Amino acid sequence: MTSFDHTKYRPFEPVAIENRTWPDQEITTAPLWASVDLRDGNQALVEPMTVDQKKEFFKLLVDVGFKEIEVGFPAASQLDFDFTRWLIEEDQVPDDVYIQVLTQARPELIERTYESLKGAKKAVVHVYNSTSKTQREQVFRLGKDGIKDIAVKGAQCVKDHAEKHPETEWVFQYSPESFTGTETDFAVEVCDAVIDVWQPTPEKKCIINLPATVEVATPNRFADQIEYFCRKVTKRDSIVISLHTHNDRGCGVAAAELGLMAGADRIEGTLLGNGERTGNMDVVTMAMNMYSQGVDPKLALGDMDRIVSVVQSCTQLPIHPRHPYAGELVFTAFSGSHQDAIKKCLTNQTDDKPWDVAYLPIDPRDVGRSYQEVIRVNSQSGKGGVAFALEQEYGLALPRWLQVELSPIIQRFSEEDGGVVEAEDMKRLFEQSFMTGSSPYALGNYSLTKDERDKVTAALNHAGGSVNIEGEGNGALSAFTAALSDHFNIRVDIVQYQEHALTVGSDSQAIAYVQANIDGERFNGAAIDNDIVSASIQAVLATVNQKVAEASQASVA
Ligand code: KIV
Ligand code: ZN
Repeated sequence: MTSFDHTKYRPFEPVAIENRTWPDQEITTAPLWASVDLRDGNQALVEPMTVDQKKEFFKLLVDVGFKEIEVGFPAASQLDFDFTRWLIEEDQVPDDVYIQVLTQARPELIERTYESLKGAKKAVVHVYNSTSKTQREQVFRLGKDGIKDIAVKGAQCVKDHAEKHPETEWVFQYSPESFTGTETDFAVEVCDAVIDVWQPTPEKKCIINLPATVEVATPNRFADQIEYFCRKVTKRDSIVISLHTHNDRGCGVAAAELGLMAGADRIEGTLLGNGERTGNMDVVTMAMNMYSQGVDPKLALGDMDRIVSVVQSCTQLPIHPRHPYAGELVFTAFSGSHQDAIKKCLTNQTDDKPWDVAYLPIDPRDVGRSYQEVIRVNSQSGKGGVAFALEQEYGLALPRWLQVELSPIIQRFSEEDGGVVEAEDMKRLFEQSFMTGSSPYALGNYSLTKDERDKVTAALNHAGGSVNIEGEGNGALSAFTAALSDHFNIRVDIVQYQEHALTVGSDSQAIAYVQANIDGERFNGAAIDNDIVSASIQAVLATVNQKVAEASQASVA
């Protein structure tokens, strides 16, 4: 018997909003982005970052293009205090970047926070207190007035300290923590009271940050709360509405997106979503979602491998291989039908056309990934994947009829080997199976003469000796085929033939592919040579060698 009992939970009580407009809005411009990796993300780590890790992470955030970076909670952590001091004293903050620090709305903590910020050029002081019913009643044991009073006193204290340090360009930020669990009217009331203290103007705005400290409802309900709040709050033109979503229901990004449609201006989150419990809103996913819709996210996410590497090494948390846009496998197709579709679309895709490739919402190259990793071959894969890999890696554009023959060979290998088949193995299997033009018989010297019909005389080297063969036909290939048929006493008909220059490796080489019917059985051969005629006749010889080898095996058996 388990205690899995849904009746112990209550549904979220939605805010009553009429004529909501957010469902008709579209995201057409980037919000103001603020990173909370070094504060909220850091607070959630098993092992918080060292100063060195924070330095490395800060550099990444600056390079990615964040203009507001929450660097810590200096009143609560000596390490965060020291790191903030280092940023300021060592002049590590670019002129257009605001460092942001968090503090509870308590006078002694606010004072210490300002100490950490002494000498900063630009800073956001982020003050918060909890406003939800649960926290009011059970944690703080205060009524609504008591909670509002904490916020107002905190806001006043923040303002008073800032006035003592006019050399810094201050921005004030207030968060009604646990906003999603707060009656929205009460959240408006508390924020209005804070705004009344700070007296922001359209020229000098303050930030009101609305956190889904815990994600408690579907994203549409969050969007309703945001639209309702934006309608009711005073001095809307003098405040920046910021969102700070967590991912408890797995919808942190969706909630932020709908919240933006509902009127927010600014988004707080972390790179790849580290943060308390299930994490903060993932800025990479949200920004890349915009990018994939043709909207400039105003963040530089092109070096995804660096982002993944820094985040992993600083947080000591792995990135899931299927993490949107960043995971190791997110641009990789294993299934044959997906591979075929991708290969066809990539062939049609040109730089002057909008991106339109099945199964790939964005061009992997935009985030520093290559097409090589798009198609990976395992036992689920089809001929398209194998062909794609051989072409990308070695310039071998296998004709369809040869792809059909090679695919089961690769599939068998994958089944036996139990995994992904590398391009190198595919090439080896291709060579072993079809490039059999040198054993047991190898082409020696040959000559071609053209008369009414083409004539060929060729030496075949075999077991240390050599035999001469001769034949006639309408062209070199048919003359050589006739010579082979005659010599081995078999009937050889060329069913398929294709050739192309090799663009990878050597530009002076060509490859010929041949399918021959030999005594009613199909054999496939391929050969590479500097001379296309030589390549063709060796490809035919490859098919005959397979027939000869098969016959000698049969006679041994
Ligand atoms: O999740 C949260 O509510 C926070 C606040 C401090 C903004 O991190
Ligand atoms: Zn948070």
